[in-house]
Amino acid sequence: MPKYTITLIPGDGIGPEITNSVQRIIDAAKVEICWESYKAGKSALEVYGDPLPKALLHSIETHKIALKGPLTTEVGKGFQSANVQLRKSLRLYANLRPVKTLTGAYSRYTGIDLVIVRENTESLYAGIENEIAPGVMQASKIITREASLNIAKFAFDYAQKHHRKKVTAVHKANIMKLADGLFLDCCREVSKSYPDIIYDEIIVDNCSMQLVMNPKRFDMLVMENLYGDIISDLCAGLVGGLGVVPGANIGEHVSIFEAVHGSAPDIAGQGIANPTALLLSAIMMLQYLGEETAAQLILNAVYRVYGEAKILTKDLGGNNTTEEFTNEIIKYVVK
Ligand code: NAI
Repeated sequence: MPKYTITLIPGDGIGPEITNSVQRIIDAAKVEICWESYKAGKSALEVYGDPLPKALLHSIETHKIALKGPLTTEVGKGFQSANVQLRKSLRLYANLRPVKTLTGAYSRYTGIDLVIVRENTESLYAGIENEIAPGVMQASKIITREASLNIAKFAFDYAQKHHRKKVTAVHKANIMKLADGLFLDCCREVSKSYPDIIYDEIIVDNCSMQLVMNPKRFDMLVMENLYGDIISDLCAGLVGGLGVVPGANIGEHVSIFEAVHGSAPDIAGQGIANPTALLLSAIMMLQYLGEETAAQLILNAVYRVYGEAKILTKDLGGNNTTEEFTNEIIKYVVK
């Protein structure tokens, strides 16, 4: 009998291609997982008329852990993002996104090693909107003391556990004095309990410029939801793009591991998507499960393949397909 049962959401667009790759690699590392696969997002809406079927939520709540491909959300119309609904309904309050250079990967910088901690349930990203009069739309930015304290604590605990030196709070409290002001107050309050970790603050627009000019001045960044969404993609651009940046949505009882990127409709179905971001997310999942040996085995294979830089997908300047890249990783996993 398999050691773990884990919910799998193949997702939309490139999702099925990259989840298949990751399943094959985990299989090669001999971690026995029974995958319970469910549709969500656009593909679930098409089949069940519901982007977030109850059976899927039940499976995640039962097994407490999921590996998720990206879900498509239409721009300016359609159903509320299934990602937002999942994160809110399962109270996945922390979004952890390590951004690290993979040796040999086509990227603008070398030696980048940043960690983004993004509050995952509120702010403008929660999508609380209404039409207050014809031609006048309102989007509400809700920031609570509870969620801000929780995310600040998560960031500092992570920093302590992983021997990080500095946590920088990213904000716009010069303009949103109440909402972002509260977020900052909470970060300052929490920082006092971690005297060994340097704490500082930066306004989000300046942070964007500094990340491009001199990313190594940062170590860990903590921020509210929408800033985290945008800054994550910026940081992905520092290390070769969205194809290589993983993520984890962490709650008190449930965690969902997924790449930072979306469903990439421009390349879906072509067999050329880079599975690395989801693979690194799966490695985070294996570490979370305590499967350190398998996690390290796969990670070593990733470093090896990127170090050699012979078999790479197109986003990183290579010519290889998802399958060829997957086979190359597997070659080193089983060696
Ligand atoms: P995207 O992240 O899907 O794509 C942006 C660019 O990066 C595209 O050129 C794409 O080809 C490339 N890219 C992304 N992942 C890649 C990979 N693994 N390998 C190679 N190239 C890759 O962002 P976009 O186009 O803004 O969004 C598409 C859809 O994805 C939207 O419906 C959006 O709502 C959804 N989305 C879902 C997310 C999730 O499920 N967590 C996160 C972000 C977006």
